[in-house]
Amino acid sequence: MWTEEYWHISENSPEDDGRRLCITAKKEKTRIMNVLEELLGFGVVPVVVIKRKEDALPLAEALMKGGLKCAEVTFRTDCAAEAIKEMTDSFPEMLVGAGTVLSTEQVDRAFEAGAKFIVSPGFDPEVVDYCLSKDIPVLPGVATPTEAAQGVKRGLKILKFFPAEQAGGLPMIKAMAAPYVGLRFMPTGGINAKNLPEYLGSDKVAACGGSWMVKGDLIEAGEFGRIEELTREAVELVKKIRG
Ligand code: 3PG
Repeated sequence: MWTEEYWHISENSPEDDGRRLCITAKKEKTRIMNVLEELLGFGVVPVVVIKRKEDALPLAEALMKGGLKCAEVTFRTDCAAEAIKEMTDSFPEMLVGAGTVLSTEQVDRAFEAGAKFIVSPGFDPEVVDYCLSKDIPVLPGVATPTEAAQGVKRGLKILKFFPAEQAGGLPMIKAMAAPYVGLRFMPTGGINAKNLPEYLGSDKVAACGGSWMVKGDLIEAGEFGRIEELTREAVELVKKIRG
């Protein structure tokens, strides 16, 4: 599923330096592939908006108990970085990344807080190139072949497809994937327990992002038991679909 091109190694250095850089780059590439492979292996990536930092831990606990050891914490609130730090400090086995990342400054804050991957709603070349230069796994959003081409040009093999339902859903993913052999997508936006089977049933879909099990009103009402229940249902659904 993963290919060498995900990470490019090209350094014009003296022989020794070049060899060392190649080995380092290869290790980094493997690490990045492992992070993304682990993330996509969950099938579903919960997209979380945390307004109060005290909700971060009970939320992480609910996800963990429900069987989903990952989360994309969006940089839409002031406490996003703190929430990521709390979650990763308390649950080091959890794969926590940052979503809605719109600037290189946010990439730095997310990474310092412990984020293991970066997700953006759109394809911002500056943010993508910055992540690539720092060996940070990045999933930029695309909705058109022109944007997908930017990712392909950089050797990316997985792109977020956003906003999935509004931008044409699975038919659009299949049409976009046709010319780009090997490219797969993480559709996000409008995905729920009903349409998950359709998306995850496609070999062009690596995983789906969504907020249906971690809705803002549930978090704000402190309904972490319900979040755990919905998470468990999502995990069961993924198992059923993927076998
Ligand atoms: C978002 O932008 O909030 C994500 O794409 C999640 O979308 P959803 O709430 O439709 O799942």
